[in-house]
Amino acid sequence: MSLQNHRAVIVGGTSGIGLATAKLFLSQGAQVIVASRSQEKVDAAVREIGTAQGYVLDFRDESRMKQFFEKIGDFDHLVVTAAGGGSSNAPFGSLGIDVAKAEFDSKFWGQYATVKAALPFIRQSGSITLTSGAAAARPAKGASTLVALNSAIEGLVRVLAMDLAPIRVNVVSPGVVDTPVFNGIDANSRAVMFQKIAQSLLLQRVAKPEEIAEAYVYLAKNTYTTGSVLQVEGGAILSGI
Ligand SMILES: NC(=O)c1ccc[n+]([C@@H]2O[C@H](COP(=O)([O-])OP(=O)(O)OC[C@H]3O[C@@H](n4cnc5c(N)ncnc54)[C@H](OP(=O)(O)O)[C@@H]3O)[C@@H](O)[C@H]2O)c1
Repeated sequence: MSLQNHRAVIVGGTSGIGLATAKLFLSQGAQVIVASRSQEKVDAAVREIGTAQGYVLDFRDESRMKQFFEKIGDFDHLVVTAAGGGSSNAPFGSLGIDVAKAEFDSKFWGQYATVKAALPFIRQSGSITLTSGAAAARPAKGASTLVALNSAIEGLVRVLAMDLAPIRVNVVSPGVVDTPVFNGIDANSRAVMFQKIAQSLLLQRVAKPEEIAEAYVYLAKNTYTTGSVLQVEGGAILSGI
C-alpha cells in the first residue's frame, strides 16, 4: 500500500483541496500531473509543487479530456477535485433551470466526462476518487441543486465501483474547507462566516485543505476500499449544519 512511483492525475489540482492533495501524493513518492482551466493557476501550482507536470483543460469539454488522457498515457490514480465554485441558494423553482444545469455541468458532468475519458488509461490495480460534499448527507433548505448534484456524484460512484471493478472507485465528501473558493468574499466577512459555521460543528472549526487531502491519499492507497463515501466534515452531519 505505497504510492511510490505510481502516476496520479489530479484534475483540479491547482488550487485548494486539489493542490494540497497533489503535494501529499508527491510526498508519498507518486508522480503527479495536475490540470485545470487557467494557465496562470497551472503555472503557479507547478512552481509551488516543484516536480509536478501541469496541463490546461476544462473538464466539461469531452474532446479536450480525451486528447489530454491520450497524451498522458497509462496511469494509476485519478482524483477529480475540479468544480466551478459557487452554488445557487434559492427556493426551488425561483431560478431558471439553466442555472441548475450549469452547476451540474461544472461539477457532476465534468467528473463524469473525466472518468469516461480517463478509463482506457487507468491501470486495473488503480483507483478513481471523485468529490462530492457534505450537503449530500445533510441537506439545507434552498440548496436543491447543490444537494442533488452531490448526491448524484455519490450514486454514480456506487455504480462505477461495480461496473469498473477491479479498479476501485470512491468519493470524498468534504464539509466546509478554507480554500480559495471563498476568495470572492472579503477577508472579514469570510472570517465571520467561518466562525459562525465553526460554532455549529462538533470540531468547532472549518477544515484545512490538507485534512481533506489525507482522505484522497487513503483511498488511493487502501487496496480494499471501493464504492465508499468518505466523509471528512468535522461532525457537520451529526451537528446538523
Ligand atoms: N471548500 C469547501 O468548503 C468545499 C466543501 C464541500 C465540497 N467541496 C468540493 O471540493 C472540491 C474542491 O474545492 P476547493 O474548495 O478546493 O475549490 P478551489 O480552491 O476553487 O479549486 C477548484 C479547482 O478546480 C479547477 N476547476 C474549476 N472548474 C474547472 C473546470 N471546468 N475544468 C477544470 N478545472 C476546473 C480550478 O482551477 P481553474 O480555475 O484553473 O479551472 C481549481 O484548481 C470541489 O468539488 C468542491 O465542490 C469544497
